[in-house]
Amino acid sequence: MKKLWGGRFTKSAEDWVEAFGASISFDQLLVMQDIQGSMAHVQMLGACSIISNEDMEKIHSGLVQLQQKAAANELEYSVANEDIHLNLEKHLIDLIGPVGGKLHTGRSRNDQVATDMHLYLRDEIAGIQEDLRSLQTVLLEVAESNIETLIPGYTHLQRAQPVSFGHHMMAYFWMLERDYGRLQDSLKRVNISPLGAGALAGTTFPIDRHLTAEKLGFDGIYENSLDAVSDRDFILEFLSNSSMIMMHLSRFCEELILWSSQEFQFIEMDDTFATGSSIMPQKKNPDMAELIRGKTGRVYGHLMGLLTIMKGTPLAYNKDMQEDKEGMFDAVTTVRGSLKIFAGMIGTMTVNKAHMEKQVQNDFSNATELADYLASKGVPFREAHEIVGKLVLLCIQRGIFLKDLSLAEYKQTNDAFEEDIYHYLDPYTVVERRKSAGGTGFSAVRKAIDLAKTRMQ
Ligand code: ARG
Repeated sequence: MKKLWGGRFTKSAEDWVEAFGASISFDQLLVMQDIQGSMAHVQMLGACSIISNEDMEKIHSGLVQLQQKAAANELEYSVANEDIHLNLEKHLIDLIGPVGGKLHTGRSRNDQVATDMHLYLRDEIAGIQEDLRSLQTVLLEVAESNIETLIPGYTHLQRAQPVSFGHHMMAYFWMLERDYGRLQDSLKRVNISPLGAGALAGTTFPIDRHLTAEKLGFDGIYENSLDAVSDRDFILEFLSNSSMIMMHLSRFCEELILWSSQEFQFIEMDDTFATGSSIMPQKKNPDMAELIRGKTGRVYGHLMGLLTIMKGTPLAYNKDMQEDKEGMFDAVTTVRGSLKIFAGMIGTMTVNKAHMEKQVQNDFSNATELADYLASKGVPFREAHEIVGKLVLLCIQRGIFLKDLSLAEYKQTNDAFEEDIYHYLDPYTVVERRKSAGGTGFSAVRKAIDLAKTRMQ
């Protein structure tokens, strides 16, 4: 098949070599962005009198037809035409004749593909931001209805101090809020136009890069043509932000998986988000949470992959860069799919309030409170710590908890203990009293939820 770039070649490529070099199997995802970019480019060519208005109109209406065909899934692509750019140009020429060949005036596939990807990511980032907001909304709902639900708080996965389950949910809300902000910040670098950089050096035609940038809704243009065609930082930044989102989801997944176990029994997944075992009839596996935890690895992989692809490429464009797309597409699908499933899981899970509460009634997570109690009565904290440590040891030896020791036994250890210690040992009191800003106290959590709601607007 005759190539659009075939002039200086004497032999045609062999099919299997051609197939190896082609990107059409995956870059056809950019079809709409590619047409959009071409429309802006051709209108600019007309406006700058680089081509006649008549030619501009012809090409533009050809592009409109291609757009309709693409929307109706009627465009056929061939490997012989290598990638989405050449496939579309070929279709355009077939449709409107040789005048279609004027579209590529003052443009290269190098600035073209970069433009497509900036447009694509801009849209997908907005989509992911919406997905984040949906999940945050669900988290807020779960948090709000569980402000006074108690759960053991852990450090080192050892019971530490009781916390509000709502507070625990809100911890993830704020992680996702930062993820949202990171994506927003990245738009400064995503939403700029490489179009008009040409192959690498700019062009002799009197183009107007600001006009195409404006038509495409970009906030500005790349200032250097070499940089414009070979920058993939914006994709790397996206993959890094995506990795961060997945890391947050994965940590949360790990907790959901633990909490669903017989050992914890803090939550139960809705049947929709769990599966059974083909052999063990009793099983209910938190598959979706495990899968999201697993998919985190792929997204990290895409980030590492592209960093490695880029590290040895001299300026400007190199074919290596064609490898930037599949990972980016897959990261988008993975992050968006995971966020959606996650919102469903969280919104439908059963929170076993009574069971969680029983846990904090029967552990030593109120020990800090007891030490604080003594400290507030003037006992130096280090001494108080030692006293309570001994009391915990005594309880462990006797198989009881701090609330089961008699006042006489307390007084024996230190005279500062009074009847009111039993009130302080109550996990509700323990949680309620931690009202410091950002703390787990019920009033602090309520404040945080209110603030979160205003952030979401
Ligand atoms: N398919 C190519 C890619 O995705 C488009 C740019 C090709 N440019 C070139 N000079 N071969 O990277």
